[in-house]
Amino acid sequence: MSITIRRTEPSDYEAMQHIFTGPQAVWGTLQLPFPSAEQWRKRLAEPPEGLFGLVACVDNNEVVGQLDLHTFPSRPRRRHVGQIGMAVRDDWQGKGVGTALMQAAVDLADKWLNLTRLELEVYIDNGPAIRLYEKFGFTIEGTLVDYAFRDGQYVDTYTMARLRK
Ligand SMILES: CC(C)(COP(=O)(O)OP(=O)(O)OC[C@H]1O[C@@H](n2cnc3c(N)ncnc32)[C@H](O)[C@@H]1OP(=O)(O)O)[C@@H](O)C(=O)NCCC(=O)NCCS
Repeated sequence: MSITIRRTEPSDYEAMQHIFTGPQAVWGTLQLPFPSAEQWRKRLAEPPEGLFGLVACVDNNEVVGQLDLHTFPSRPRRRHVGQIGMAVRDDWQGKGVGTALMQAAVDLADKWLNLTRLELEVYIDNGPAIRLYEKFGFTIEGTLVDYAFRDGQYVDTYTMARLRK
């Protein structure tokens, strides 16, 4: 099985809707259940300035994962920072897709965008995600209490960052 990473295209909106139809993908992110294809179409058609959207494709070019790297080109004092959010489709988790996406994002940040600080937020009970981030050198910087409402209760979040010295 080979995993290919490419830039997100506007035509990927149905694949995004498919990814966020999965209960695990919703559980681990800030997305809501019942994702709308139309909302994803609009979102991909008008990306904000500084967003590098990546998708992971397998086999017959099927999109099974996504990662957004937000940068801040219009904020001089945050130009060294990138913020990451990601999700792999439920039926493709645990097969190396997240690792391939994160490797591509880290390479982009280190070797092309010259970002020295990557940030992300992760629910404190999301073990697989935390292990993935630690594998790439992210460390926990703090805990945000009752950060989000998820499946009937509030959940705490770790803020994590990877500093490139
Ligand atoms: C978190 C997520 C992005 C990881 O992507 P993935 O494709 O499943 O991860 P990989 O298969 O590349 O595995 C990466 C590492 O995570 C850990 N991991 C993955 N699945 C795991 C599992 N079921 N149990 C324990 N650890 C696991 C392992 O340490 C693994 O590294 P290793 O195989 O080198 O030891 C993915 O599971 C996901 O999208 N989950 C739902 C949405 C979400 O939580 N997004 C993150 C928001 S912060």
